[in-house]
Amino acid sequence: MTLKTPHFHPLVDQFSRTISYLRLSITDRCNLRCMYCMPKGEEDTAKHTKTGQILSHSELLSYEEMLRVVRIAVEMGMNKLRLTGGEPLVRRGILSFIHELFSIEGLDEVRLTTNGVLLPDYAERLYREGVRHLNISLDSLQPEKFFEITGRDDFNKVWQGLLKARDIGFRVKINVVAMKGINDDEFIDFAQLALREPFQVRFIEFMPLGEKSSWQKEQFIKADEIRAVISGTGHLTPFKSSYDEGPARVYALEDSHGHKGSVGFISPISHHFCDKCNRLRLTSEGRLRACLLNDKETDLKSLLRNGASDQRIRQSIRQTIIDKPKGHTLQSDFGETGRLTCRGQMSQIGG
Ligand code: 5AD
Ligand code: SF4
Repeated sequence: MTLKTPHFHPLVDQFSRTISYLRLSITDRCNLRCMYCMPKGEEDTAKHTKTGQILSHSELLSYEEMLRVVRIAVEMGMNKLRLTGGEPLVRRGILSFIHELFSIEGLDEVRLTTNGVLLPDYAERLYREGVRHLNISLDSLQPEKFFEITGRDDFNKVWQGLLKARDIGFRVKINVVAMKGINDDEFIDFAQLALREPFQVRFIEFMPLGEKSSWQKEQFIKADEIRAVISGTGHLTPFKSSYDEGPARVYALEDSHGHKGSVGFISPISHHFCDKCNRLRLTSEGRLRACLLNDKETDLKSLLRNGASDQRIRQSIRQTIIDKPKGHTLQSDFGETGRLTCRGQMSQIGG
């Protein structure tokens, strides 16, 4: 009889999940000021981002440092990489960085999450470097409301960016954070966009992330409620889940005129997917974070800057994976305070 040794594989955690997907927040800076991401009143001071406190350049990991971590992670068996932020396209030199990433053997895909503002300028070059998948965050299809949510009058840039990405041939997903009283009147419009264009629209439950976020319990909408609204636009048929869909529950949508599209629902709160979570995050500050909703982090930057060997870095990645929390315990009723203990800001952690 052979004994099962599930913990031997470098990427398997103590709950038998294989951690194969690395999300890299390459900067905490952003050219938008989304209301749920940035503390109120601190929006427009040059020194502040949505986190309230911007990291100085030397606090961010350098591209060389990130390349080293990615190379080691890929050698350990990780094979999926997503660049996030803040807004990844605002960091100078990102195209050469992506070029270097593609030269790492064993890494065949680099995906990007962006707010789309800079896509009109960057889409072609990103495609040329080899990027094929874009997740574009867009919470409103109405320019005035876009301005209210993001603090910037940039709807048209994002829209042009979306159309350009479509024309070039990217696979595009649109991420919509669902907020009651803010964009719940647009769910149908988003579903119709998914029918009209080759964009998968994914509705994300609004999470209470970050100490200073504008999140309020009353603004939370369960994914099932959103789905009920969307079902008014056409017939929904569940897709089989695959890596490509990540934590989203995806449905084919077809209306009575035969228009087809797909929509997804990401429900970290109402149907949490912790048992299938395959992710590890590297924050813009160089900390490894095993769970978005748990503040426990490993300081990789200090190791990198104190001459640690590859073996030491590997060990640290391995330990973070072993210690990955089983999951979060936040329920849809949000308990007494309606708040998470998670203080980390999305813009540093990288969504
Ligand atoms: N809840 C849900 N989604 C969020 N995002 C940012 N903050 C939150 C939050 N509190 C989304 C962004 C982006 C993705 C990376 O995460 O809009 O689409
Ligand atoms: Fe920028 Fe994303 Fe935060 Fe909006 S949610 S301010 S796009 S980092």
